[in-house]
Amino acid sequence: MVIQWYPGHMAKAKREVTEQLKKVDVVFELVDARIPYSSRNPMIDEVIQQKPRVVILNKKDMANLKELEKWESFFKEQGYYPVAIDAKHGKGLKQVEQTAIKATREKFEKEKQKGLKPRAIRAMIVGIPNVGKSTLINKLANKSIAKTGNTPGVTKQQQWIKVGNSLQLLDTPGILWPKFEDQLVGKKLSVTGAIKDSIVHLDEVAIYALDFMKSYDYEGLIQHYKIDVSKDADNITWFDAIGRRRGLLRRGNEIDYEAVIDLLIHEVRNAKIGTYTFDVISEMDV
Ligand code: G4P
Repeated sequence: MVIQWYPGHMAKAKREVTEQLKKVDVVFELVDARIPYSSRNPMIDEVIQQKPRVVILNKKDMANLKELEKWESFFKEQGYYPVAIDAKHGKGLKQVEQTAIKATREKFEKEKQKGLKPRAIRAMIVGIPNVGKSTLINKLANKSIAKTGNTPGVTKQQQWIKVGNSLQLLDTPGILWPKFEDQLVGKKLSVTGAIKDSIVHLDEVAIYALDFMKSYDYEGLIQHYKIDVSKDADNITWFDAIGRRRGLLRRGNEIDYEAVIDLLIHEVRNAKIGTYTFDVISEMDV
């Protein structure tokens, strides 16, 4: 989904999500497990405030599981309820319901003490584009629900979807904007496909991805491309080796660098080379 975000747009999205939040007991903040920090909306705490929060780290199938555990601990320390899932293949869905129960236990205990009748937990999904909100809603609903279209915020006509025995989910997610300011975050959003029409140059994204793999998965990288390039060889040497191996050549036997860049980004984005979490917690200022 391609959304152009403007200040007016962003204010509207924030207002709409804030309004919808009044209807729910718990928020599902959906992030990409490959960039659990960089794929968050920059104002998310201001939007969600004190409402119980389940942080859903989606696309677990494409992430580094060790690093993911660290992020789960991080979110727990912040007082949230993290759960890592793979919405596309329907993995971890039960845990979403169970985690929602945990996150709202205190609230429902209080309601019970006041003599209120037990009722279903109401939840809504919030997140930046392309983290898998529609995929998750469809999986939880167990049927296909029309995508909300390219409207930031939330659309008006909403319904509750019954999930399991104890949960009701709004069928339209809250769509908020990604972080724009930081160049590195931009590269991470691009390399994971959160931003497809890149605001960052694709050659820079490919170089970022290459550098990341050289540091964290050198063996995997050279094995995947069946090339023999030393770790500290310059980027052109790497691009040349990959291009030659894959036959990405122009007339005159020259390397087609654009094709190499496209290939690298495509293969990293779809976890063809390895499963990576680009937000390395020990290297981040969080
Ligand atoms: P959004 O509503 O938050 O904007 O995201 P959406 O559900 O449209 O998902 C964006 C892309 O991410 C989709 O791929 C979707 O299939 C994929 N996706 C969602 N959850 C997961 C997951 O847990 N694992 C993996 N591997 N992928 C996931 P697409 O290429 O845009 O579409 P399609 O090829 O699936 O049709």
